[in-house]
Amino acid sequence: MKLERNDPCWCGSGKKYKKCHADFDEKIERFARMGAEVPPHEIIKTPEQIEGIKASSQINIAVLDYIAEHIRAGMSTEEIDQLVYNKTKELGGIPAPLNYEGFPKSVCTSINDVVCHGIPSEDVILQEGDIINVDVSTIYNGYFSDSSRMFCIGEVSEEAKHVVNVAKDCITEGLKQVKPWGFLGDMGQAVNDYCKAHGCSVVVEIGGHGIGLEFHEEPYVSYVSNRGEEMLMVPGMVFTIEPMVNAGEADVVMMEGDDWTVYTADGSLSAQWEITVLVTETGYEILTY
Ligand code: MF3
Ligand code: CO
Repeated sequence: MKLERNDPCWCGSGKKYKKCHADFDEKIERFARMGAEVPPHEIIKTPEQIEGIKASSQINIAVLDYIAEHIRAGMSTEEIDQLVYNKTKELGGIPAPLNYEGFPKSVCTSINDVVCHGIPSEDVILQEGDIINVDVSTIYNGYFSDSSRMFCIGEVSEEAKHVVNVAKDCITEGLKQVKPWGFLGDMGQAVNDYCKAHGCSVVVEIGGHGIGLEFHEEPYVSYVSNRGEEMLMVPGMVFTIEPMVNAGEADVVMMEGDDWTVYTADGSLSAQWEITVLVTETGYEILTY
């Protein structure tokens, strides 16, 4: 259905289409005619939605800050789950992972060669020398947020420090490419190039995602993509940057039995940091970290 220029804009601003998103849509249409993959209106957030996602993001950040204060050797990943559940509730949120497609806990805890989606357990005790990803996601007032951090438990090996740092720094490299009218592949390639240049590899099968009104929205965000490819970035898009970085080969295997836990195929260490970004008129804004 095509909007007339005097119709109210699709974004809900109450303004006439011609005074609001008409030029914006025309610009997107030009990219589409050139063969680019372009975002549908549904994933372009309104100012009100952005406020909602930011409020959710503040809880997500606070929960991770709280975990950072309390994580220590000797603690079980089940205890991390309880801290996440209690803190999220205290702040008025709901842990998004809980019961998400059957996930049984409130947070993902992925240690050493676990790539992602580790399930918290009483039987998994943090040991000195471990590296762990804690992946927190929050629903607040119907809005979703998502971020994850790595924690080094006590003194860790040089190799562990390296993969943790590469995973963090490749986000900084990718971020330099986040701007309106660029492509997600610009960011993906920057991430991948950085990881390779530092002797690590990026997991192919699992990437990031749009987020905000749902946990996982369009677009799928790959970090093994090429400059100039993948979806066009436009102001109002919100997505995660969360490459999974392996110290060894990129191949991964799913644990038989739980249908969630993903490991490196070669047993090498894996690290991941995750942030959520908003594409703005001039570049980006980090919403969660
Ligand atoms: N937080 C993960 C992400 O970054 C998703 C985890 S799904 C879950 O997309 F069910 F395992 F929580
Ligand atoms: Co995510």
